[in-house]
Amino acid sequence: MLVTGIAGSPFSHSRSRVLVEQILARFKDAGCRTELVVVGDIPGDALLSRSGAPELQNALDNIAAAAVVVVGTPVYKATYAGALKTLFDNFPQRFLAGKVAIPVATGGTSNHMLAVDHTLRPLMANEGAVSIARGVYAVDAEFTEGEPSAEVRERLNSAVIESLALAKGLMSLSSDTATTATLPSPW
Ligand SMILES: Cc1cc2nc3c(=O)[nH]c(=O)nc-3n(C[C@H](O)[C@H](O)[C@H](O)COP(=O)(O)O)c2cc1C
Repeated sequence: MLVTGIAGSPFSHSRSRVLVEQILARFKDAGCRTELVVVGDIPGDALLSRSGAPELQNALDNIAAAAVVVVGTPVYKATYAGALKTLFDNFPQRFLAGKVAIPVATGGTSNHMLAVDHTLRPLMANEGAVSIARGVYAVDAEFTEGEPSAEVRERLNSAVIESLALAKGLMSLSSDTATTATLPSPW
């Protein structure tokens, strides 16, 4: 099973990326293959559909092949980062149908912890993904020298356990009858 992480910060070194990487490491320990898409490493012109780029195609291929997608972003202006949205704008319709998604966000303040549920979750639902019940949110103060606290790491563990159970359920459903891919597009 392939698990693809998306690091949606415009910066290559970022807290939300660390959380995505640590989630991928847990999936690797559980026997999964993993890939990481770093939005900040994809040329801006390609993200804005002004040109093609192998980095963008490679990212789309790795997302298309995944059973589980880990979507990480910093909170910017009370929502997900625009850099992440430019990647989503390149997705064909219902690109995440049949996949399990783990929403992950970091922010400067706990005031915006609902950005995970009110902004990131609908973005993934629009593509057909089934998100786990509780996404992961961490504030900057929960990191020390780039490392998340034990409490945050516990949230990562729960997210991985829940998504593995959900992915197994979805896989057995799709080998059974009609899948979510047959649902009409919402727009
Ligand atoms: C342009 C900008 C806007 C931000 N807006 C918010 C915000 O609305 N709410 C919040 O809690 N943090 C906000 N932050 C803080 C970041 O979300 C926070 O530092 C986050 O951990 C950065 O993630 P990264 O290290 O993965 O890039 C903002 C930071 C920047 C640079």
